[in-house]
Amino acid sequence: MKGIVLAGGTGTRMYPLTRLINKHLLPVGKYPMIVYGIDRLRKAGITDIIIVIGKQFSGLYAGFLGSGMEFGVNIAYRIQEEAGGIAEALGLARGFVADGERFVVLLGDNLFMDDLTPFVSSYELQPEGTAKVLLKHVNDARRYGVPVFDEKQQGLITTIEEKPAVPKSSYCVTGIYMYDTAVFDIISQIRPSERGELEITDVNNVYAGQGKLEYDILQKWWIDAGTFESLQEAGRRMKGMFP
Ligand code: DAU
Repeated sequence: MKGIVLAGGTGTRMYPLTRLINKHLLPVGKYPMIVYGIDRLRKAGITDIIIVIGKQFSGLYAGFLGSGMEFGVNIAYRIQEEAGGIAEALGLARGFVADGERFVVLLGDNLFMDDLTPFVSSYELQPEGTAKVLLKHVNDARRYGVPVFDEKQQGLITTIEEKPAVPKSSYCVTGIYMYDTAVFDIISQIRPSERGELEITDVNNVYAGQGKLEYDILQKWWIDAGTFESLQEAGRRMKGMFP
């Protein structure tokens, strides 16, 4: 099992700060944001990691994380030239994983406390060519991808609605996904959305439409640290956990 951390994109929600420094290098407690996802993967025994980064700040990532040795992992890097969407960034990791191999994908701005080990183990039992997303119960799901559950078959999602005005459930699809290499064929089939990006929700909806999208639910604290408010909350929380 390998790990892919997506840390491209422009971070426009956090301008002007992210014009100076990439979102995933902003401080959360004592470390840059990117370190927490790497830590979660390492704790689940995943030490071969590729990080997809934008070219503007690539030197900073390499300078801080290096080969990953200091963090107990091996890190390889891929550059996303333009912010073409989460699915485009994921597509850049093709070639890092062997045919049929499975991997965990983390969005670099998602911070969480759950141990990934049981979720990874349950994904390993899923049939080849299926995917898993991790969900979190939230108060306001409108900011996120929101799952619609299969009423007939427990554990399956029938569709995901991206940032719906009226969410059909109070769960959000977090930026924690599990796939095998079949995902790269799906990425090459989808088309850019209205905002010109290859959307991860479109990829997941291909799986969902075929009855191949399973889910598990995070039990502990989770945050998308992609806004100023949530970044501050993440900083307070992580300062306590990683003093
Ligand atoms: O945090 C969970 C949410 O993340 C999900 O509920 C949504 O379904 C999913 O679409 C995503 O929504 P966001 O609006 O939060 O995505 P954002 O554009 O902020 O991108 C999240 C991360 O993905 C970002 O921190 C880095 C990576 N990314 C994003 C883009 C657009 C890339 O690596 N390259 C990209 O081009």
